[in-house]
Amino acid sequence: METMEAQATLIAERLRPADRVGVYCHIDADGITGGAIASEALSRADIAHDVSFLKKLDDASVQVIRREAPPVAWFVDFGAGQLHLLEGLDAVITDHHVPTLRDIPVERRRDLVRFAEDEDRVLMLNPHMEGEGSDVVSGAGLAYAVAKALDPKNTDLAAVAIVGAVADVQDQEFRRLHGFNRTILQDGKDAGVVQASIDLRLFGRETRPIHKMLEYSNDPWIPRLSGNEDACISFLLEIGLDLKVEDTWRTWSELDAGEKRRVVSELATHMLSRGSGWKEVERLVGEVYTLVKEPVGSPTRDAKEFGTLINACGRYEAAEIGYRVCRGDRAEALEQALRLLAGHREHLVSSLAWIEQVGLSTLDSVQYFHAQDKIRDTVVGIAAGIALQSSGNRQMPMLAFAYAPDGVKVSARASRELVARGLDLAAIMREVSERFGGEGGGHHGAAGATIPRGCEEEFARAVDALVKLQLSGPNPEATGASDR
Ligand code: C5P
Ligand code: ZN
Repeated sequence: METMEAQATLIAERLRPADRVGVYCHIDADGITGGAIASEALSRADIAHDVSFLKKLDDASVQVIRREAPPVAWFVDFGAGQLHLLEGLDAVITDHHVPTLRDIPVERRRDLVRFAEDEDRVLMLNPHMEGEGSDVVSGAGLAYAVAKALDPKNTDLAAVAIVGAVADVQDQEFRRLHGFNRTILQDGKDAGVVQASIDLRLFGRETRPIHKMLEYSNDPWIPRLSGNEDACISFLLEIGLDLKVEDTWRTWSELDAGEKRRVVSELATHMLSRGSGWKEVERLVGEVYTLVKEPVGSPTRDAKEFGTLINACGRYEAAEIGYRVCRGDRAEALEQALRLLAGHREHLVSSLAWIEQVGLSTLDSVQYFHAQDKIRDTVVGIAAGIALQSSGNRQMPMLAFAYAPDGVKVSARASRELVARGLDLAAIMREVSERFGGEGGGHHGAAGATIPRGCEEEFARAVDALVKLQLSGPNPEATGASDR
């Protein structure tokens, strides 16, 4: 923790005298929130800067950056995996992805990463350099650490950093944030901008009618209720909950403590009596985060809802709009972001209908579908996750293909249970995509790849073989270590 703060201070000192800083951010919610934090902190410190968003940091985009020649470049939520491309640039990196030098022992990375011949031209703040994993802090959280090093008064920015962490599902595994994220959370509480509480973890606490919140639940999946609106309404009416005040649907945040307790306890009983295990039932409840300065019932008050809103902007090439919302625009940009979110939901509904229509193909150990151009490459991962949950067969990982500008996008999703049995989709995606001249990676239970067109079926069969191997072997590391 202390070394993280010391490194953040080194980075702040590099930024402070810069004539101009070029801030380059990943296009997802973590990158966008991180960019907003970076920009706000630079503005407050009177440091001239520009902000841009990139789908990925590759050879081509680094060449553009070299031409722009910012006196200092600041990479947010990417850069760690591209160190080899950055030589000679004056750059600072706030990224939680696995560094390119992943095979170098942790205790030696600190020195090596500062490029022997390029002494200190690239400074990186990254939890992997402290021997931590990717999920103790997000790109936004690391940008926040630098913001705080620039000025200790910047702790109000912790709120947006928590949105970045939650959008990157860093609260998912343990049902609460952990690691450096807790320092950020404490700062946010002390600054009076964030509150953490134990509550129902389902999506939509502030804005969704309660039955809709149940209907869309997928972590945990609630038997008979998930995906079934009528059943959700009946369930809530049967336990005597008032669903409306006059003509308006109530939201979860409007319930009193007694009503909340009743619903949660009935949900737990319902799940247990329909065969869900304790581990699943437990996932109903966890720590949730509220941005207390935002109006009650607004889409920017609950961290998870805020993050989804910003992700919707990134997914539809409108990162700039999400960025403006993060910088505080609650008028035009928020309105546009909400339109993008509504469009995203429509796209998801039509995506799922399409999967239903074409059906799933099944191999020995994986199931898959090819969305062609019917599902956006930026959305096919979510569709794969929902398809897995609703397929009735969570014993097989779900593989999904969709056409992308640079080939075929692959998304892979597996249940927690398979991951516990040793499945590592990140390693499989990396290994198999490399075999086909593509690239891939991610997390054990949620990974992705980009591969050339035309080899999808062969790719699925190769994944199938590796899944089988991993799940049958005693050694879960058989295909190499993964990203986290
Ligand atoms: O796009 P999707 O949601 O399926 O991505 C799941 C995970 O896989 C993400 O963590 C993403 O960063 C990773 N991924 C990757 N390489 C790709 C595509 C996705 O590492 N080419
Ligand atoms: Zn991230």
